[in-house]
Amino acid sequence: MDASLIKTINRLQDAFSTVGVHNPVDLPQIVVIGSQSSGKSSVLENIVGKDFLPRGSGIVTRRPLVLQLINRPVPVSSTGSDDDDNGKSNKISELCLTHVQEADKEPAADGKKEPEEWGEFLHQPGVKYTDFHLIRDEIVRDTEAKTGKNAGISPLPINLRIYSPNVLTLTLVDLPGLTKLPVGDQPKDIEKQIRDMIVKYITKPNAIILAVTAANTDLANSDGLKLAREVDPEGARTIGVLTKVDLMDAGTDVVDILAGRVIPLRLGYVPVVNRGQRDIDTKKTIARSLEGERSFFENHAAYKSKAQYCGTPYLARKLNMILMHHIRNTLPEIKAKIQAALVKYQAELTSLGDGLGDGRAGQASIVLNIITEFCNEFRTIIDGNSTDLTS
Ligand code: GDP
Ligand code: NA
Ligand code: MG
Repeated sequence: MDASLIKTINRLQDAFSTVGVHNPVDLPQIVVIGSQSSGKSSVLENIVGKDFLPRGSGIVTRRPLVLQLINRPVPVSSTGSDDDDNGKSNKISELCLTHVQEADKEPAADGKKEPEEWGEFLHQPGVKYTDFHLIRDEIVRDTEAKTGKNAGISPLPINLRIYSPNVLTLTLVDLPGLTKLPVGDQPKDIEKQIRDMIVKYITKPNAIILAVTAANTDLANSDGLKLAREVDPEGARTIGVLTKVDLMDAGTDVVDILAGRVIPLRLGYVPVVNRGQRDIDTKKTIARSLEGERSFFENHAAYKSKAQYCGTPYLARKLNMILMHHIRNTLPEIKAKIQAALVKYQAELTSLGDGLGDGRAGQASIVLNIITEFCNEFRTIIDGNSTDLTS
């Protein structure tokens, strides 16, 4: 995620909390849907820029994972400055929702390191996971604890929060894939159960749907697209994601799909290359995977002329734009909240008489200034990028 967007929104959230308004911007939830093993968990993990989700062939994701990214500024005592962080993160990760933090911060003077980034499960309050591989182990453990080992599923979500200075406060949802026939301990009506589970998450009007389809399968058979169309017939909040472009038969490509000549989608399609099963087994890092993805598109005859519209970084940029549009649309509501707060504090100030105010009226007008500035910044960003969304 774009660092300047994170900063701007933080400034806005901070300004608001000084006048007692929390979370003024209700950011959308990003939900991945599609057939089993189409690559949903892989896409989500690449967007977040962290290795922490169970992935693999067969039904691996068996409960919804509600992942809340929570922006938490670096404590003042920390040794790192913003500029240092920017220097460390590479170009690709800057475009993702989080920066990949390669270097750890120096330990504090007392030897106990205050973590800068950690994960915490709702079912284990107070337990801070700083090793993201252990997060994956816990997701697997708790999935098995609630559904058994034999491919059972459950609508009971796993709630995971990730606290970090490098994320936008935002929710992402990973879901089990659509399947047709029960295996293992799955109920006879598995297809309907999973479908109902998915519909519950994508019906919310503020859900952005990432409809994932493997490029080596027929788009016309895409379960994800079909379901997305049911809840979002206008295609106002559905992005098509084409995975496994690297596994397509020689001589075939997704160019016609990207050009909207197969099943047009208002927000378009993004082709990606995630880590394959061998890469998972050999623990290939996200950074190397993103590097490989970039070189795949840049060197492929069918994609090299449009490589900037391909891959995970472009998907992240697209999401960024959608989030900004969403925020822009809620600006009038935010302004109204601020103005109401301002009127209230001015009335309080008047009733207290001159010189007895608690300063909140002054703060409210500072917030108003910030918001005006914010609107201008957004106009600039959005006007400068609006073609990005429909390309
Ligand atoms: P999900 O079931 O939809 O969540 O899919 P996963 O993310 O678990 O991926 C299923 C399998 O497909 C794993 O073995 C992945 O390594 C593999 N996979 C996912 N995306 C790609 C891709 O773009 N290219 C290749 N070669 N394999 C992929
Ligand atoms: Na899978
Ligand atoms: Mg999955």
